[in-house]
Amino acid sequence: MGLQGPRTAEWFARAKGVLVNGVSSGFRYWGDEDTMVIDRGEGAYVVDMDGKRYIDYQLGFGPIILGHADPTVIAAVAEAAAGGTTFAMTTAREIEAAEAVVGAIPWVEGMRFTNTGTEATMHAIRLARAHTGRELVVKFEGCYHGAHDYVLFTTAGSPVEHLGSRRSPVPWQASSGIPEAIRSTIRVLPYNDLEAVERLFRSEGGRIAAILVEPMMGNCFGVMPEPGFLEGLRRVADEYGAVLVFDEVKTGFRMALGGAAEVFGVEPDLGTFAKSMGNGFPIAAVGGRNDIVQDWARGGVTQAGTYSANAVGVAAAKATIDLLATGEPYERIRAAGRALMQGIEGILAEEGVEGHVVGHWSMFSIFFAEEPPREFRDVARHDADLYEETVRGMIRRGVMPVDDGLEPWFVSAAHGDEEVARTLEAFGDALVEAKG
Ligand SMILES: Cc1ncc(COP(=O)(O)O)c(C=O)c1O
Repeated sequence: MGLQGPRTAEWFARAKGVLVNGVSSGFRYWGDEDTMVIDRGEGAYVVDMDGKRYIDYQLGFGPIILGHADPTVIAAVAEAAAGGTTFAMTTAREIEAAEAVVGAIPWVEGMRFTNTGTEATMHAIRLARAHTGRELVVKFEGCYHGAHDYVLFTTAGSPVEHLGSRRSPVPWQASSGIPEAIRSTIRVLPYNDLEAVERLFRSEGGRIAAILVEPMMGNCFGVMPEPGFLEGLRRVADEYGAVLVFDEVKTGFRMALGGAAEVFGVEPDLGTFAKSMGNGFPIAAVGGRNDIVQDWARGGVTQAGTYSANAVGVAAAKATIDLLATGEPYERIRAAGRALMQGIEGILAEEGVEGHVVGHWSMFSIFFAEEPPREFRDVARHDADLYEETVRGMIRRGVMPVDDGLEPWFVSAAHGDEEVARTLEAFGDALVEAKG
């Protein structure tokens, strides 16, 4: 039985008539009977076309840090939109929003806004290549950095059996249509393996422009960096003159106001931000060391975008960051996130199911295996069927994590005690049902 109710199914049929697979982003397609059509979001909830309410842990794949339709953000956006949205000139709102970003993240000396995380990582890579005069980019297996050609290698959906040996990984091209030449510019390595990084740099360090990393694996169970891993990347990048880029599109403004760099105490040269910076409005940023980002000003390195810093996006960013800067949303997210993580651990133990809650209170997932994961290849040990069955049972009970186990559950400041209690009850019941 599919997840769609009758009206949702009707709307999905209409969607398929005009949108390919009925969606505007490939990851939203869950199959013809399960793809959801949503009417609205309210705080911690989404409501489908049948009027069914779900406690939402997808949160738009992460951005909704304050809850859906946060009234303060919506008011700021409405006020900004009434004054016009897109100008071929800098605006006061844009300056204020940039000041808020720089105020939140001390190592960002200079920045520019973009609209999406994809654009942000594309520009960060270009800056790094221009700054170093080198072409190679190192990324890690299971990390996702957007939908552009330079980074679609060994992302979280890649088949583990096709990745080559750990010592000599083969980049798995995650899409057709990428020019063959681009493959030669990418090197992929297992996450949390500093020795592999050092080995690669010993042989090719002089050709590597950037180490691009999700400081916590926000697209792979929320696997955390082991102590010393990010510090080691910092050291290797310094030693070989490569640019260290933290892709904080998921972690930025979510794990803490200063993102993963603040939590782990390691500062990159460049960072990319999006999602939680704007509570669901399309706004992103690239920023970091002035001697690198000022290449945009010195000429020669192109950054442009008609909609960059549009009034709606920057108003959302300013309002969201101001609220986050009070610290109060993080207290609520931490309380709910910790209660969920501990509650799930407890249920797993009670039911005698081998599993681990992986990640951070702001974004975590459940890994069904004896030992917790430390890198993408560990996905092979995860009982994906049990996970998927459990999540489907939860969705039927009105709780909505992402059905793909690699995508973490996201928690917002609108998730309170009631949502936590209902979620744990649904998880327990669905798990018992799923394991049969
Ligand atoms: C770490 C990371 N980087 C980049 C992106 C791409 O961002 P966008 O979807 O806004 O282009 C994502 C999207 O999920 C992401 O998780």
